[in-house]
Amino acid sequence: CGIVGYVGSRPALDIVVDALRRMEYRGYDSAGVAILDGAGGLAVEKKAGRLENLDKQIAEVGADTLRGSTGMGHTRWATHGQPTDRNAHPHVSVDGRLAVVHNGIIENYSPLRTELENAGVDFASDTDTETAVHLLEREYTSGEHAGDFVASAYTTLRRLEGAFTLVFTHADHPDTIVAARRSTPLVVGVGDGEMFVASDVTAFIEHTRDAVELGQDEVVVITADGYTITDFDGEPTGGTPFHIDWDLAAAEKGGYDYFMLKEIAEQPEALASTLSGHLHDGRIVLDEQRLSDQDLRDVDKVFVVACGTAYHAGLIAKYAIEHWTRLPVEVELASEFRYRDPVLDRSTLVVAISQSGETADTLEAVRHAKDQKARVLAICNTNGAQIPRESDAVLYTHAGPEIGVASTKCFLAQIAAAYMVGLALAQAVGTKYQDEVVREFEALEETPAAVAKVLEQMEPVRELARSFASSDTVLFLGRHVGYPVALEGALKLKELAYIHAEGFAAGELKHGPIALIEDGLPVIVVMPSPTGRALLHSKMVSNIREIQARGAATIVIAEPDDEAAAAVADHLIPIPATPTLLQPLVSTVPLQVFAATVAQSRGYDVDKPRNLAKSVTVE
Ligand code: G6P
Repeated sequence: CGIVGYVGSRPALDIVVDALRRMEYRGYDSAGVAILDGAGGLAVEKKAGRLENLDKQIAEVGADTLRGSTGMGHTRWATHGQPTDRNAHPHVSVDGRLAVVHNGIIENYSPLRTELENAGVDFASDTDTETAVHLLEREYTSGEHAGDFVASAYTTLRRLEGAFTLVFTHADHPDTIVAARRSTPLVVGVGDGEMFVASDVTAFIEHTRDAVELGQDEVVVITADGYTITDFDGEPTGGTPFHIDWDLAAAEKGGYDYFMLKEIAEQPEALASTLSGHLHDGRIVLDEQRLSDQDLRDVDKVFVVACGTAYHAGLIAKYAIEHWTRLPVEVELASEFRYRDPVLDRSTLVVAISQSGETADTLEAVRHAKDQKARVLAICNTNGAQIPRESDAVLYTHAGPEIGVASTKCFLAQIAAAYMVGLALAQAVGTKYQDEVVREFEALEETPAAVAKVLEQMEPVRELARSFASSDTVLFLGRHVGYPVALEGALKLKELAYIHAEGFAAGELKHGPIALIEDGLPVIVVMPSPTGRALLHSKMVSNIREIQARGAATIVIAEPDDEAAAAVADHLIPIPATPTLLQPLVSTVPLQVFAATVAQSRGYDVDKPRNLAKSVTVE
């Protein structure tokens, strides 16, 4: 989501709506504004869909109903609750005097909501966000610091768990905005007689280039003349001032040349948010479940259907799901599944993976499965899209909007989500004890840090990519979970750099593809962990020797202390040691960077590869 707050002397509405327009890339499920008139009035307008819908609504009600020089706005990427008018932000307290906008997830919203409902609060939306505004209203009217907006906000914030940025305004305090950051970003824009808070600097870059970044668990209170930054207890802390020297286009991309590069960098966060909140009392929970526990227990076969990169996520997940559940898993391209006669019945769980949730091939596969009474679980990055809507259960990847056509952060998030489906099934069918499920989940929770570490070491990969940028063909090899990673590496290179690239199972090489090897041909190898499966590892070493002997230039992705891999690598790309099943989450990253760099070296737009579309709504 994108959020903005403004306190100053100019009409807040124009400033807020302009800021939303620039942040629309952060989400376009709904948009809304709240404007304080300075005389005790608070006006809110919000509308589902793109910002233009809100523009129309504001034109209808008349912009003079939204006069005032304090305001805030929100452009939503839905997490909890469908992308409807009712769930659009800002959310308002019962007395209509307080408003909030929010980016992130309040993980303990469910007990908080129950507590508030028991106290007689009627909720006006299905969002987790609304709990925050009602809590604050109660603090402000009858809490320890009643009547003190800022102190009541601190008390409220301390009760919230999860990852969030929140901005609060109160009609009785039109000169003050309170904003807080836990995990998701928040920056302050320091103007002359006016102040801003926003998810990113694009919101205010045209008004000021002086900014302050908030750290974790910090709160900022802004007025027209200044700001104070504290922790959640009100103790003063610093914030990090900086000067913005990007232009607007670069700012939208967080300083990167392309959205895709920014999205690659966002992968640790995408993984962490996807995992966040899914382990409750030692059990894996889905986002939406219109299936009974018995339905899940009855599952005796799993089919994964998807297209493109999402299909590769499915291929990887097969290894984990079969290992954990002992259920047979088939993974199929949605466009193939749809036109044959797969063996399905009501005990089959079809897992449909789709970033957009609207890919026609995948949607038709879902319908084909439902016609045969199979249960469908969607893994999707777009709240309320058609595929989740038609499914019996949903697990959302909270990767945030992905603008680059070639999928990156959603791929990692899809793997994590599909693994959670595997764990949820294992707990339902009883192949894993609760503590084993928890342990596997905790291992998953360590992957964002591992990915962050890989991202720090990408400069040598970029150099390598530049040196291979004029290759006509690049081959990718993997075994076990590394095999679909090789397929994904090849797909990325094809779609971004328009180079002929193929991924192979390394063991299959000798049955045909080895005929392609010739002097100097670059072959990228995803090396299994030497500590995980020793046999797999040693087989791979032999495979690399076979191609090296025939002249291939070997680029080997391996753990840093894998001496056997280093010995056969013409070029070595180190990745942190990870359990075998989790390795794809780290080994994919250098392949993404490799493909993007080759494409850039060849002068291509990596966000918009030729002939491709982000979501393909035709079969
Ligand atoms: C298109 C995109 C791919 C994507 C595929 C599936 O072909 O170019 O990057 O992997 O669709 O998209 P979905 O939204 O269903 O994940």
